[in-house]
Amino acid sequence: MPATVVVGTQWGDEGKGKFTDLVAKEMELVVRYQGGHNAGHTLVVDGESFALQLIPSGVLYDHITPVIGNGVVVDPKVLLAEMDMLTSRGVDCTTLKVSGNAHLIMPYHQELDALHERHLGDGKLGTTKRGIGPAYADKSMRVGLRVQDLTDPKIFRQKLEVVLGYTNQVLTKVFNRLPVDADELAALYLNEYAPRVIPHIGDAISIVHGALEAGQGVLLEGAQATFLDLDHGTYPFVTSSNPVAGGACTGAGVGPRDIERIIGIAKAYVTRVGSGPFPTELFDEVGDHLVEVGREYGTNTGRRRRPGWFDAVMMRHAVRINSLSEIALTKLDILDGLETLKVCVAYDIDGKRVEHLPYHQSDLHKATPIYEELPGWGTDISAVTKPAELPKNAADYIAFLEDQCGAPVRLVGVGPGREQFLDRAA
Ligand code: GDP
Ligand code: IMO
Ligand code: MG
Repeated sequence: MPATVVVGTQWGDEGKGKFTDLVAKEMELVVRYQGGHNAGHTLVVDGESFALQLIPSGVLYDHITPVIGNGVVVDPKVLLAEMDMLTSRGVDCTTLKVSGNAHLIMPYHQELDALHERHLGDGKLGTTKRGIGPAYADKSMRVGLRVQDLTDPKIFRQKLEVVLGYTNQVLTKVFNRLPVDADELAALYLNEYAPRVIPHIGDAISIVHGALEAGQGVLLEGAQATFLDLDHGTYPFVTSSNPVAGGACTGAGVGPRDIERIIGIAKAYVTRVGSGPFPTELFDEVGDHLVEVGREYGTNTGRRRRPGWFDAVMMRHAVRINSLSEIALTKLDILDGLETLKVCVAYDIDGKRVEHLPYHQSDLHKATPIYEELPGWGTDISAVTKPAELPKNAADYIAFLEDQCGAPVRLVGVGPGREQFLDRAA
């Protein structure tokens, strides 16, 4: 059976965690393919909430093998803390596998992340300061340390000395900071973290392909989202990996023909954390309403998310570049109390109507949304379990988005709980 991908289609926090958990029910393997603990994926099961950063969202099921793919950057301290948190709450993490090719986040990556942000001043990106950018930069510079290096103290020390030879110059001479002590850092990683991480290191490629060849269900879980993608997002206000569906190939080690179903997760409105262009952003009381009712505050960082109306121009682009087979529309219930809903169907750029995302970012900064208005439904839909039970205006809103975006909306979220969804294909 070919693999399924879950990919964010906006600027993150669309509800990937909830829908990965939902779809994982029918799977055997869930593989995270990129990003690191900049992600915060929330699952609510029987009223209990779990906020995951690194461990794949299928972990709550006993039958799932969670795998951290080669495309992920792993902070072992965070990984171990997350495993401890889950174990203390009765979730079994013993089957967790981490690709030996995944790169390690080191404390100096986090320090550099914060220093770069400070250096950018008002132009800062608003990163999560988790060291993600500097860790991927070291990977590209070919001086990164990998998870497999934890198994060989000699190689680990050699590589650490190479990277610190450069990084300590940057820390001391560019940023006037103290150098990193290689002995102390090696002791922390090799003596404290390695003994607990090593039992989980595995050959992720063989695990994933073994499952595919045996006809098992493999779910590839993306973090972040299409418009935070290093290549396809609103650069430079992006993350440093490839969250798009193509990133699932490189980050999990599968080819495009190994993938069949590609589920794009889209919020029924849009949010963004951190800096960068956002054509449909709302600065009024409707925006405040979406933030308060939708509890739009970062899962891990607690930052207020910027709210806006649904943007079909962006979504059309996301459908194209991820080759989405379907959309999962989340948080439809958050729109319950609104009398009128707006959907951006095109942009006005210098007096011209534009229906596809402009390739030049200056145009995106200038874009004024052209909205179509739809009536709200004025009732609580959080207990609805069947599409036919939705108020007509809610069903019409979904059909309108489907028509505008060019992909079918199959799953619809009506609340944070695992059971609060509708399957329009059932
Ligand atoms: P992710 O990063 O894409 O996994 O999303 P987050 O977990 O950061 O943010 C999504 C938030 O919305 C979480 O608090 C979820 O519990 C919640 N959520 C997901 N789907 C729905 C939904 O359909 N309705 C409501 N009300 N909340 C939802
Ligand atoms: P999930 O998986 C929302 C944003 C940051 C910042 C930019 C770069 O929960 O959807 P980074 O620390 O990655 O270098 O920050 O990306 N960002 C996210 N925004 N959800 C996320 O993850 C994010 N991960 C990173 O706010 O604007
Ligand atoms: Mg999140």
